[in-house]
Amino acid sequence: MTQLDIFLARAVKRYLTRKPVLRAVRHSEPSIICSADDDAQTNDLLVELSLKAIQDARNTSLRDLAEKNKELPDAVYYDVYPGNHYRLLQVLARNLARRRIIEVGTFTGMSSACMLRGMPESCKLTTFDLVAWRQFGSHLSEEDFASGRITQILEDLSNPSTFEKHLPLFNESELIFCDAPKDGIFEHKFLTNLTRVKPTSTCLLVLDDIRLLNMIDVWRAIKSPKLDLTSFGHWAGTGLVDITEGLRFEL
Ligand SMILES: C[S@@+](CC[C@H](N)C(=O)[O-])C[C@H]1O[C@@H](n2cnc3c(N)ncnc32)[C@H](O)[C@@H]1O
Repeated sequence: MTQLDIFLARAVKRYLTRKPVLRAVRHSEPSIICSADDDAQTNDLLVELSLKAIQDARNTSLRDLAEKNKELPDAVYYDVYPGNHYRLLQVLARNLARRRIIEVGTFTGMSSACMLRGMPESCKLTTFDLVAWRQFGSHLSEEDFASGRITQILEDLSNPSTFEKHLPLFNESELIFCDAPKDGIFEHKFLTNLTRVKPTSTCLLVLDDIRLLNMIDVWRAIKSPKLDLTSFGHWAGTGLVDITEGLRFEL
């Protein structure tokens, strides 16, 4: 993004949010709404998994995680449901994952902590980032990593040869959660690499922030069965994709 792009984006957003009621919003982002009839459709599996996850997320609470990490400013978002995706991630990990979960984008570890909480003992979580978890005020602890249930790898999965190295891990996963930079570059390359995955069991891709401007074309380019679950996930967009038969991604 050039300085001019940044200036124009700020000016457009300021104009679009000129009404007082919009100015008062804590955080807003410009977006594009697209027709759905000419987009890839959902399937029975996604609808059934989603209905169960929505209901389960209603009946769960992450208050204890919020309490345990209350000194961290983002802990207030754990239990915002609907509106945030943390409860949903916990129940998807519980209902779906058996062997492996992959997360792209660890940051302060909130989403990792929720999936760790939900996933069964048999399951392992591998979380990728470019910055080590210890560099942030983290919701994760040394004990979490010592338990062997979670591993962090500091590598860039947009690189095809790096991705190739981890392909067996992806083939074994039942849940892939992508919450990376949304910079208009990474997700395009990562999803292109993800088309090489041949899941060995039912596998769901959960894509965060699908309503952000940089993610609209990424979401639209997905031709596999998919469902926009934003109303029961993260306000900036939560997309579910059934990639059991592989990912079709056509930019
Ligand atoms: C929005 S944060 C993730 C938030 C986290 N999933 C949560 O809910 O708590 C995005 C993260 O993506 C990481 N990131 C940026 N580029 C990346 C890349 N190429 N590969 C993996 N992670 C990347 C950033 O360092 C940052 O920690």
